[in-house]
Amino acid sequence: FRAASSLQQAYQPSTCSDDEYADLDWDNLGFGLLSTDFMYIMKSSKEGNFEQGNLSRYENIPLSPSAGILNYGQGLFEGTKAYRKENGGLLLFRPDLNAIRMNIGAERMCMPSPSIDQFVNAVKQTAIANKRWVPPPGKGTLYIRPLLMGTGPVLGVAPSPEYTFLVYASPVGNYFKGGFAPLNLYVDDEYHRASRGGAGGVKAISNYAPVLKAITRAKNRGFSDVLYLDSVEKKYLEEVSSCNIFIVKGNVISTPATNGTILPGVTRKSIIEIAQDQGYKVEERVIPVDELVNADEVFCTGTAVVVAPVGSITYQNKRIEYKTGGGSTSQKLYSTLVGIQTAVIEDKKGWTVEI
Ligand code: COI
Repeated sequence: FRAASSLQQAYQPSTCSDDEYADLDWDNLGFGLLSTDFMYIMKSSKEGNFEQGNLSRYENIPLSPSAGILNYGQGLFEGTKAYRKENGGLLLFRPDLNAIRMNIGAERMCMPSPSIDQFVNAVKQTAIANKRWVPPPGKGTLYIRPLLMGTGPVLGVAPSPEYTFLVYASPVGNYFKGGFAPLNLYVDDEYHRASRGGAGGVKAISNYAPVLKAITRAKNRGFSDVLYLDSVEKKYLEEVSSCNIFIVKGNVISTPATNGTILPGVTRKSIIEIAQDQGYKVEERVIPVDELVNADEVFCTGTAVVVAPVGSITYQNKRIEYKTGGGSTSQKLYSTLVGIQTAVIEDKKGWTVEI
């Protein structure tokens, strides 16, 4: 990745070598944006193909007031991370799966998509160019945010005539304010995240603003986040605002099947495989909300969230409590996942990409 390093040399202050860390309070990272040095931008041609992209300084981008993304929300985002190894090197985790998911989402949103190689290459270049922002081991990760946007002008409802693929990054710590503290979820049976035939199964930008109302209401009532139910029968578990959900009963771990309204998470998929390797039976199926009463454990998974234990769920004014902490299934799965992601545990699956 000569392009990345030559740009770094061109842009970075002379006092900054490749190996140094940015001047940050690494012990207190949360999940807020800390802007880094570089972003990667690639634009589509008139024919809709993506051509050579480039790293540039992280900065505001010019956008037509009638861009498809601004007017009709024609856009997708992804989330992936770069991890710092003990020896200072960097790892990515299954970035090809994010590329494939963007491809599938682009088809749903009538957009051209970067190829898998273009996507993974852009993520690598962004991580390498922002290396000094990748937190030290144990302090956090570099969250990498690829965006695919309709940036050409449209007035009527139609696909945009031009697209931009952009990747930026921010160092992050825990997603939830309470750090590793178990979540207290609220089941909202009024607001829904997705509906049949909608775009809930892809990472459409437009899936996220509508949940803000439900999240705000739950937070005002003292909950960490919202667990959504299906919008037709209001009876089956779907997911939490920014992550997938799993329930544990004995040796069986269940998670809602990806039926079009559930986001097929990269962490979800990885945790299913890790749990199976550890001898659990994993079921991807329809889960009635009533099953929450009998579950031993509940946990959430996501790139941002990683694996977050759920301490309680409140549904129709009843609070159900779950096992968390030492010896819990979620803790075992978390340790294995993070161990692989940071090369503390040998990656026998070929999930990590050294950069
Ligand atoms: C991720 O886990 O990468 C997500 O997309 C969550 C995001 C909404 C913060």
